[in-house]
Amino acid sequence: MEGYKIKTLTQFIIERQADIPYATGEFTRLLYHIGVAAKVINKKVNKAGLVDILGAAGDINVQGEEQKKLDLFANWQLLQALKNSGECCGAASEEDQEVITWDDDLTQDGNYIFCMDPLDGSSNIDVNVSVGTIFSIYKRVSPRGEKPTMEDFLQEGSKQVAAGYIIYGSSTMLVYTTGKGVYGFTLDPSIGEFCLSNYNIITPLDGSYYSVNEGNFEHFPQGHKDYINYCKQIDKSTNRPYSARYIGSLVADFHRNLLKGGIFIYPQTASAPNGKLRLIYECNPIAFLAEQAGGKAIDGKQRILDIQPLSLHQRVPFIVGSKNMVEKLEDFLDSQ
Ligand code: AHG
Ligand code: MN
Ligand code: MN
Repeated sequence: MEGYKIKTLTQFIIERQADIPYATGEFTRLLYHIGVAAKVINKKVNKAGLVDILGAAGDINVQGEEQKKLDLFANWQLLQALKNSGECCGAASEEDQEVITWDDDLTQDGNYIFCMDPLDGSSNIDVNVSVGTIFSIYKRVSPRGEKPTMEDFLQEGSKQVAAGYIIYGSSTMLVYTTGKGVYGFTLDPSIGEFCLSNYNIITPLDGSYYSVNEGNFEHFPQGHKDYINYCKQIDKSTNRPYSARYIGSLVADFHRNLLKGGIFIYPQTASAPNGKLRLIYECNPIAFLAEQAGGKAIDGKQRILDIQPLSLHQRVPFIVGSKNMVEKLEDFLDSQ
């Protein structure tokens, strides 16, 4: 009698170890530990309403936003996983002003740098709407055996060796790339494993969803306003009007557009000249995934992955999604 044919995340990353140049198993161990942390965070997110972990922790994080308790929990859990893996020499997180390093020899010998938004879309937790974790991995440029330097953390997005996200949605999924395509794994809670569900994700070249916080419309640059109006015009030949979809969790908005085709826009405004989203742990990993799936990600002027980061919590305007849609918006921006 036959059972289920499944491929777990762990099996898959071991099989694909050769995708990472000079991989020795260190990277595989690192991803394995992230998968474990994701399962723990998933359990906590699912139980949020039950165990009274809802609500604000009473702290203000480095962006001055109110921190939710689950943000702190996810941050702690992931840092623990990184330390346990012994492969990561330092981490940067939305929840910590400074980089995190450890004093023991094992972690200082680690070859990888990890940047993360431990819980993305956390304002949605209280209302039971999808949230996520976003991560980005680099090889260190400083010598092993020492503490990492700022140069390790401020590498261009094009230097990422891996990036991904976990979406805690109607199902929990882990989606990642190592620069050889994008792969999605769905958590089967009955066996507690992430199982390969989306092999080599290719995003549609065109889509019919646009995702933007249109409440800010009046503050957007003219090119963005013109494009949003274009999205709403009636033209059957180009499938317009497009449908507006905005969850307010980057991970969830991006995930839908990745699979269905669409564009996500978070522009600059007069009061937020660099937009809201953070380059190193929100935009770079999402941009890497988008490009690997055949999509495109820009800040309005240049490719996100080419931006030289200047600080850990730097913000950038963000446009990401189906290639033709992003290029159409670029035309509107160029004509200004
Ligand atoms: P975080 O919860 O990590 O602070 O991120 C929230 C971000 C992102 O997920 C989302 O796309 C965006 O904020 C929504 O911002 P607005 O509420 O300004 O639209
Ligand atoms: Mn976020
Ligand atoms: Mn966050």
